[in-house]
Amino acid sequence: MENNENNKHKIQKPKYEIDTLTNDRLLADHEYDGIQELDNDLPPWWKWLFYITIVFGVIYMIRLWVFKSDDMNQNKEYEMEMAKVASLPSQQANAASFEIIVLTDDASIASGKDIYDKNCAVCHTPDGGGLVGPNFADDYWIHGNSMEDMFKIVRDGVLEKGMTPFKAQLSPTMHLEVLSYIITMHGTSPANPKAPEGEKMDWPH
Ligand code: HEC
Repeated sequence: MENNENNKHKIQKPKYEIDTLTNDRLLADHEYDGIQELDNDLPPWWKWLFYITIVFGVIYMIRLWVFKSDDMNQNKEYEMEMAKVASLPSQQANAASFEIIVLTDDASIASGKDIYDKNCAVCHTPDGGGLVGPNFADDYWIHGNSMEDMFKIVRDGVLEKGMTPFKAQLSPTMHLEVLSYIITMHGTSPANPKAPEGEKMDWPH
């Protein structure tokens, strides 16, 4: 009895009809100018995108209005960006507190070797004998061999001669580490030393 009534109810108010030819689900009473609206499910990727935007929106509003997060406040964001710029390697190098000195501890030399192998060995060869760039084992220097001279060359490069500037890639401390490692190469005997370039100089280190 109850079942019967249920069935009746369904028959009286169908949600959609099935097109006998194409098996498409048609939305009942949704036909306009001979165009029949279908009752297809939305594609899952579209639905999930929609759900994600809802979740994103809720988190966004909570961060904006409830927690008033720093990175959502224009003025704070500006201050954070400015602080970031101030800590850039090129800016730090100009800071008065930074000292250009030779580092002698094992950790700095090891870090210097790592930086050298990754950035400098292509042109100066792994043992410092020189290839595109000059030999670091001999007594001859083009731009001077004080720590300040070498620091400047690594920071600003000599673009027209093929020496890359590293100020954007290496922090000032990394400059000191790689130069301190280069200093350990002086007086060694590389496998294929490049002919001396520049002037013979006393070794200050
Ligand atoms: C793309 C090749 C190349 C790379 C990479 C390179 N150099 Fe050089 N480097 C050169 C050349 C070429 C010169 C010579 C410039 C000149 O003749 O004025 C040079 C010169 C130098 C000098 C000065 C030498 C002198 O006799 O006065 C130093 C110091 C130096 N490089 C250090 C480095 C360090 C440290 C790195 C890695 C962080 C490095 N170079 C990476 C090509 C390179």
